[in-house]
Amino acid sequence: MSAATQEVLDRIDREKADYLEQLKDYIRIPSISTDPAYKDEVLRCAEFVADQMRQAGLEVELIESEGYPLVYGEWMGAPGKPTVLFYGHYDVQPADPLELWDHPPFEPTVVGDKLFARGATDDKGQSFAHLKAVAAVLAERGTLPVNVKFLIEGEEESGGEAIEAYVRQDAGQKLAADCVVVSDSSMYAPGQPALLYGLKGMAYMEIKVTGPNRDLHSGTFGGAVANPLNALSYIISKLRDAQTGRILIPGFYDDVRPLADWERTEFAKLPFDGEQYRSDLGVPEVFGEEGYSTLERAWARPTCDVNGIFGGYMGAGAKTVLPSWGGAKVSMRLVPDQNPATINRLFEEYVQAVAPPGVTVEISSVHGADPVLIDISGPLVEAATRALETVWGKPPVRIREGGSIPIVSTFSQVLGGPVILMGFGLADDNLHSPNEKFNVSHFYNGIRTVALFLDEVGAAD
Ligand code: BES
Ligand code: ZN
Repeated sequence: MSAATQEVLDRIDREKADYLEQLKDYIRIPSISTDPAYKDEVLRCAEFVADQMRQAGLEVELIESEGYPLVYGEWMGAPGKPTVLFYGHYDVQPADPLELWDHPPFEPTVVGDKLFARGATDDKGQSFAHLKAVAAVLAERGTLPVNVKFLIEGEEESGGEAIEAYVRQDAGQKLAADCVVVSDSSMYAPGQPALLYGLKGMAYMEIKVTGPNRDLHSGTFGGAVANPLNALSYIISKLRDAQTGRILIPGFYDDVRPLADWERTEFAKLPFDGEQYRSDLGVPEVFGEEGYSTLERAWARPTCDVNGIFGGYMGAGAKTVLPSWGGAKVSMRLVPDQNPATINRLFEEYVQAVAPPGVTVEISSVHGADPVLIDISGPLVEAATRALETVWGKPPVRIREGGSIPIVSTFSQVLGGPVILMGFGLADDNLHSPNEKFNVSHFYNGIRTVALFLDEVGAAD
């Protein structure tokens, strides 16, 4: 390692406690994009990110959109050198159920090496590591070895379309870059970094089943009028085969690209303790589509999951009621080459076709995202590989993931270069759950990795 790189790492060591305090300030802002009640907080969070970028030495612009603003920052002082675009999101998932948190979700709490809070790993901590790395290099040297751009959005968790429209319309002008770096996922295991080359897409639907024009006495009317919740349950039971795990919507699998042989071989080689996985989750056995391993199911096969069911009497005791309506939210995670619009249509046709008599069924699409597979090869990916290996002591393994980062597929279509997905989180970080956490050491190592990456890219060119 060069003396200049070492000096940056030394600075990171001296300043890391400050970085952690700044991250805590960032996390204290409850930027829940899906809930309109938090609108002011989400906007305040965008300002916070913009301020942090300015303090790091970037030129900053808040890009207004129909939804929440995109925060854009750049430092373009290395003409002729490659440009790295960093992507992240400043919004977070809702924190409920609140009673299951050991510490208040927006009061970041460090216990040992773990920083507990909503957004700690997803994605404030991970994406802040990018910014702190750039800030450290600029503070140390007054210059960077490459050009950098940051695009941080505020609607990733709610499937917002603002960034999609912006990136498409920009068509690689302002955002022109040789690669995109995203840290919004996990390492394969503690001590085992990963480069991610596949993410699932999404077709998120809502079903509303309506029966009588008011709640009815279930004795007076039961048996003579269709019950919307019974009908809804019947529809849901027809979505997926309970024994084989296959999704029953006709045509659903038509465009699914099968796993390549090399992927099945590589996945099978990854250390994976099925019994540990099962017992960590507290399930009596794992269950999924017949003919596939757990990793294959989670990373490379499409899913159909009910996320929530509502309607009827849910209070204490018993109320004998035939409810007037009921509903469910259903997410289908897609794999290449499935298309969200096609899946929406197949879902809608099928649900209407299986709906029992006596009720009205309305189906709406909540949001969608394209699945993506990325070609991770070339000098910039090699630079990332070396940076990860130096910091974490092992070369990264190549994996896919079951989560979605909607803009990634657009980046890879529009910008040309590779999207380098290097997650610094861990599988037990509880993203979207109570007690979300990010290991403090992973925050620091993330900063170090990005600092090394910048020098590797600058030197390789
Ligand atoms: N960070 C996650 C995506 C992720 C999770 C990638 C785990 C890899 C592993 C991201 O913030 C997220 O949760 N996205 C949503 C997108 C959806 C609302 C379209 C998701 O996957 O549910
Ligand atoms: Zn995220």
